[in-house]
Amino acid sequence: MTNALQAEIERYKSRNQESLRLHERAAQVMPGGDSRNSIWWPPFPTYVTRGEGSKLYDVDGNERVDMLNNMTTLILGHRHPSVVKAMREQLDDGVSFPAPSPPVIDWAEMMVDRVPSVDKVRFVNSGTEATLNAIRAARAFTGREMIAKCEGAYHGTHDAVSISVQPPIESAGDALNPDPVIGFEGIPSRVVDDIVIMPYNDIEACERIIRANAEQLAAVIVEPVNGQSGFIPADPAFLSGLRSLTSELGILLVFDEVIAFRISRGGAQEYYGVLPDVTAFGKIIGGGMPVGAFGGREDVMALYDPSNGPPRVQHAGTFNGNPMTAAAGIATLGELTPAAYRELDEKGEYVRERLRKLIAEVEAPIRVSGISSLFSLQFTTTPVTDYRSYATNDKEFAQTMFMGLLNEGYVASSRCAGNVSTVHEHGELDGFVDAVGRVLERSGHG
Ligand SMILES: Cc1ncc(COP(=O)(O)O)c(C=O)c1O
Repeated sequence: MTNALQAEIERYKSRNQESLRLHERAAQVMPGGDSRNSIWWPPFPTYVTRGEGSKLYDVDGNERVDMLNNMTTLILGHRHPSVVKAMREQLDDGVSFPAPSPPVIDWAEMMVDRVPSVDKVRFVNSGTEATLNAIRAARAFTGREMIAKCEGAYHGTHDAVSISVQPPIESAGDALNPDPVIGFEGIPSRVVDDIVIMPYNDIEACERIIRANAEQLAAVIVEPVNGQSGFIPADPAFLSGLRSLTSELGILLVFDEVIAFRISRGGAQEYYGVLPDVTAFGKIIGGGMPVGAFGGREDVMALYDPSNGPPRVQHAGTFNGNPMTAAAGIATLGELTPAAYRELDEKGEYVRERLRKLIAEVEAPIRVSGISSLFSLQFTTTPVTDYRSYATNDKEFAQTMFMGLLNEGYVASSRCAGNVSTVHEHGELDGFVDAVGRVLERSGHG
């Protein structure tokens, strides 16, 4: 471990003693102290008590600017007045019923109105369930079983997509024709028989892989902005190439817009002008409540319709389309006007540009990726366009920056990715960039 990282960890420990105490207590009853590995980090995470606007407050009395927004979810920041009001009103009427309720129709109408390829939509409670159903729909629709996904792409925690999410490069095979690598124990080894792995942003390599497996492929699933590898935007020709190829071969194109939906009012598909057959949603559409949705072509979504006998695909879920999440989702989407997206784009570009300028000034071996309201630091001098280039990141440097930023009063992801919300002020964004500068200085850059 470098001295710089050690020093940041010591500083962190000294300022988060109550979190440490809670973490030790939590670890007695939950493995690792929590139920969500994505918010665990060594030596221990902070325990948050309150979020307000752009700020997070923790049990040690630390106030931090939240550059993470629950992993891109809170696009209006914490406790936006419209969302709080809508949820309070719904709370007075009840939180979940064994029957549909009117708000879910308004919510579905908003999704259909906004997203060009969505004729019909269904709601679930996580992005994981959204991609699971998108893939299941494609399998039922085509009568085929295989899927193609990109190396370094995260689509949730179900078996079918827990392959080659962050594979060790030594076991990942040829960069242009990657081997499928099971992400963790507990996934049947047979799952790799039903998947082919493609390099992100390389349409020629993808075309070879897709054509070679065309007769077995039900779906190609792709994130228009690869979140896992640091918000790498797709090359427009990559997405349009996948579109024409899948159309030609009778394969369904599935966009995972669980994160990427936030880049424009109609999502990434509107931004890129490429329409998939099915889309998976999550995060912002639930206004901070647990959520997911999948939607798409009328004929594909008809698989779920029980009106004329048993549906071809069964779909239940105690909390699917519950009115509380619908209320928060409607209120959030209602605030996301074209002007709000222009503001998010402008602030995202502002952070990326200021970071680039800082990094150039101090000649740090870092690059900046992102699009619209999303940004990420990449601790490498290699341009990051796919998983293999992402894998050149210096992980210890990233960890030093992450810890350093917490010590400076800023929350980013443990890989130093972040996103802006409508309530971030430019002063806070300047503060964030200045904090990055100070951590660089402490770690010997600048
Ligand atoms: C692109 C993408 N797909 C799917 C998911 C899974 O969503 P959830 O955590 O709601 O299950 C995530 C979560 O971060 C995601 O980023």
